[in-house]
Amino acid sequence: MTRFRVKLLPLGAEFEADRGESLEAPLAPLGIEFPCGGAGICRGCRVRVIEGSIAITPEMEEAFTPAELAAGWRLACCSQVEGPLTLEVAQWEVPVLADDTAVPFEPAEGTAIAIDLGTTTLVAQSIDLATGEVLGVRTALNPQAVHGADIMSRVEFAMAGGSAELTAQIREAIGALVGELPRRDEVQAAMLAGNTVMHHLFCGIDVAPLAAVPFQPVNDGEQIFETAALGWDLPARARIHFLPCLGGFVGSDILAGIIATGLAEGRGLRALIDLGTNGEIVLGNAERMLCASTAAGPAFEAGRIRMGMRAGSGAIAHVSLRNGSFECRTIGDGAPRGICGSGLVDAVAAGLESGAILGSGRLENGARELPLADPVSFTQSDIRQLQLAKGAVAAGLRLLLDMWGASPSGIEAVYLAGAFGNYVRIASARRIGLLEMDPARVIPAGNTALRGVKMALLCPSRRDGWMEGIRRRTTHVPLASDARFQDVFAECLRLG
Ligand code: FES
Repeated sequence: MTRFRVKLLPLGAEFEADRGESLEAPLAPLGIEFPCGGAGICRGCRVRVIEGSIAITPEMEEAFTPAELAAGWRLACCSQVEGPLTLEVAQWEVPVLADDTAVPFEPAEGTAIAIDLGTTTLVAQSIDLATGEVLGVRTALNPQAVHGADIMSRVEFAMAGGSAELTAQIREAIGALVGELPRRDEVQAAMLAGNTVMHHLFCGIDVAPLAAVPFQPVNDGEQIFETAALGWDLPARARIHFLPCLGGFVGSDILAGIIATGLAEGRGLRALIDLGTNGEIVLGNAERMLCASTAAGPAFEAGRIRMGMRAGSGAIAHVSLRNGSFECRTIGDGAPRGICGSGLVDAVAAGLESGAILGSGRLENGARELPLADPVSFTQSDIRQLQLAKGAVAAGLRLLLDMWGASPSGIEAVYLAGAFGNYVRIASARRIGLLEMDPARVIPAGNTALRGVKMALLCPSRRDGWMEGIRRRTTHVPLASDARFQDVFAECLRLG
């Protein structure tokens, strides 16, 4: 009997199944629920085929629209394994941070599409240009994640011959999201922002210069595509713009974040910090800005954490100390299945508070792991991963402040961009030494990349001025080649 490997995203679980075997039997022990008992009527067991294929049954034709079927959606309870598969499990999906903030706009006819191309997640939002109203939003995980969670793994895969595959994969995935948005025949333009690696991979630019010192892109400017070149279901008149990067690994997601937060417009010193699989920092005011990226690693998204998971149902997201014991709260209040990035920061802060974790990061008495809520625990190595991530970001900010000639108390406001910034407890981030300033000045800012793209789309008269002005006044600081970085990083590894 032939057996095939089945991989499940976003948790990365794997199993083998016989040809012709139903998916229901192996998925049930992994905690996937079949609400209608496998009758094919509730859609609760839906999965999306990322790689491989699953035959469409009459139940699926009933349950899904043609566009959903074309996007790969299937009912697990009606599916059989006929080859190797990579599937995205809807029950493990996490809400992807979009943006509903009202933004300034200059009324025009038609619609436009704003896209945040993240290393982990994708968001496409359709906007009515006459009213500035959000007409629809579609989100997905970045399918390139099967080739590595962080940007350097993608660069390595691209350089090993996978470049064209990554470009095709991301264009197709975003094209599928765009194809589900309303009033597509009225689209005048679409605009994307993303980090430098995402920019290069989407645009089909060689990533090799990003893999070696001085890690400088050769072509990080704005790229414009016709819809036919991408194969997207949009009118031929519409142009698709990928906004320009700021330098090094600091991409247009940060440029858009600067637009969204107005950081380049005030006189006071402010900072924008985006903590994802890479940490990006901007520090500045209307006169000038310094920006840098730090190889923080994926710990803030719970990558390389033994029981780490994205912030979905069953993830421990908050930990506090009550009467000397850990009290854990899971997303959805269900049984704990793992720990997400904000939970890890909380857990380490609580461990420091209780004395179970020392300032060096060592577990007290040489313990190897710390139980949180059965069956979830975290290990010495998990703490180390978090130390490396927070050390890189704290060191980056310290060096930028030093170059500016300011101290943490001189910062008027710190905007925390992205999902982690939205959910992390500021007090815990300060307790572990990630943020050294007054917590009252730290502002969770949401999806600033998407908001900035919308502002650029909706304010065409200001767009070029914003982009050119910000790029001209921003200096990219290559931290990796700064002689002081290793020493400051070593100091910043200490917790609290
Ligand atoms: S369990 Fe209800 S449709 Fe599959």
